[in-house]
Parts: sequence; structure tokens; C-alpha cells
Amino acid sequence: MTATREGAYRALAARFKQAGFDNPDLDARLLVQAATGCDDIGMIREPQKELSVAEIETLRKFETRRLAREPVSRILGTREFWGLTFEVTPATLDPRADSETLVEAALGLVGDVEAPSILDIGTGTGCLLIALLHERRDATGIGADISEAALVVASRNAERLGCESRAAFRRASWGDGLGTRFDLVISNPPYIEAAIIPTLDEEVRDFDPVLALDGGADGLDAYRALGHRLPTLLKPDGHAVVELGAGQAEAVTEIFLQAGLVVLRVVPDLGGIPRAIVAALPRR
Ligand SMILES: C[S@@+](CC[C@H](N)C(=O)[O-])C[C@H]1O[C@@H](n2cnc3c(N)ncnc32)[C@H](O)[C@@H]1O
Repeated sequence: MTATREGAYRALAARFKQAGFDNPDLDARLLVQAATGCDDIGMIREPQKELSVAEIETLRKFETRRLAREPVSRILGTREFWGLTFEVTPATLDPRADSETLVEAALGLVGDVEAPSILDIGTGTGCLLIALLHERRDATGIGADISEAALVVASRNAERLGCESRAAFRRASWGDGLGTRFDLVISNPPYIEAAIIPTLDEEVRDFDPVLALDGGADGLDAYRALGHRLPTLLKPDGHAVVELGAGQAEAVTEIFLQAGLVVLRVVPDLGGIPRAIVAALPRR
């Protein structure tokens, strides 16, 4: 391995390309930066800076893990989402860029609501709730999850991103027992068909917690649970924004309609795939 930042980056990117990774350049850059403690600017300003022996050793370990298909976010323990850096652990889903669609849709829905109250069901790292609290400084929210370990991570993320005074984290199944209603309920629930999980890409199957993936036999268990609970969790003018798996828009619309909700729209992600469903209570 060449021992300058630039050389190490190029060599690593070439090996990742050869291994068939989706984003070899980005993966290599992030790992070189983490191993050397430099940022984007450092890479640009001092590309010829030599790596120390310890940095080369660290980078070798990172490379071995990445070539064993461990995602970069798992190696580093962090993931960028909505321009913020979140801690991720084996207890949390690695936040996906597609889920930013939910944040954008949700911000539009509470645009006119003063000091909105937010519930994030299945909060994981807390990324959805914390991104919203970051954008809306007058908002408060609860992140709910059934995983205690995920709640600990979400709570640490709220603290490191400076919104701990406006966020609370509660162990609750689908928001049960919270005893209050919200202006906005947001959720990215587990929605993968159970039988498909063993066939998923190993970077997902071996590193995301099964609790964050498993949507039951048809992938729709969480939507049935949410359909049942949302009518008791939404304020009369409140909105729910719920992530969809590919091809689930029709089935989830039907589940929510059956539960007595009104489906306002389905929102596509940047790739044009229906990614979120927006629902509300019927007008009285
Ligand atoms: C797909 S992950 C979403 C995590 C995070 N909101 C995100 O978008 O990255 C689903 C989350 O739902 C949680 N979960 C699974 N079953 C649950 C239940 N019965 N009640 C509440 N949360 C649950 C999982 O622990 C996991 O954190």
C-alpha cells in the first residue's frame, strides 16, 4: 500500500472496485480519512502527507473488514443522514438515504404547526426524529422502539446532536401506552418478508438487526399494527408519514383505509419509487 493519503486512497479504491463494491471511491475515502484522522479539506490540501505506521496498520484492518463485506458505517460506527452524523451499532438499522424522503415530506406537513409534537415509531438510531428536531427548533418528540439497546443509541445521538432537551426515548411496541396524541407520527417500520431475509445482500443480512428488517410472512405485519394504533396516536389535524418497501404502496393503502384512516398521498423517493405514505384521521 502506498503510504501517502492520495496513494492509499487510490490503491484502496482500486481494490474495492475490483471487489465489485457499489461505491468504491467513497468507501476508500471515508476509510482513509478515518484511519488518518483527516477530513475532506485535509485530503485536498495535503494529499502527499505520509501515513504513519499506526495509520497504515489501522487502514489495513479497515480494508480487511470491508473486503469481508462489512459496511463502512459499521466499521466506523457512524453514518451521515440528513447532513448529520449518527452513531450506529449492531442494535440499530444503518439509516438509508431513501428515508430522507420521509423527513422532507414530514417537514412540509408541519410547516404551519407551531411547536409540533412528534412521535417516531421504531426510532432505531433516532435519525428521523432527530433530523426533524434539528430542522424545527420549536418541536419536541418521542422516539419509541422495542429495542432497549437501540433506545440507548438514539438517546446518545440526540445528545451529540444537541437536541436532548426536546427528545425523549421510550420503550414501547408500536407506540402503545404513551397516553398522548401527536401532530406528527413518523415511522420506518420493519417491512421485509421473513422468508426473503436469508437471501438479502450480505451487507444487510449480516449487519442490520433482524428486528429492524422482519415484517412477518408478507412483510406487512408492522403496517397492520400501525394501522390499528395510529387512530389513537394522531391529533385530529395530525399526520402520519410511514415508509414503504418497494411494491407495498397498494397493500399498505388498503390496510390503512381498513383501519379507518384517510390516505392523502404516496410520496416517491429520488429514484421515483413510492417510498412513503401520508395518512390522517377522517374529518368529522
Ligand atoms: C427499519 S428500522 C428503522 C430505524 C430508524 N427509524 C431508521 O429509519 O433508520 C425499524 C425499527 O423498528 C423497531 N421495531 C421493531 N419492532 C417494533 C415494535 N413492535 N415496536 C416498536 N419498534 C419496533 C426496530 O427495533 C427498529 O429499530
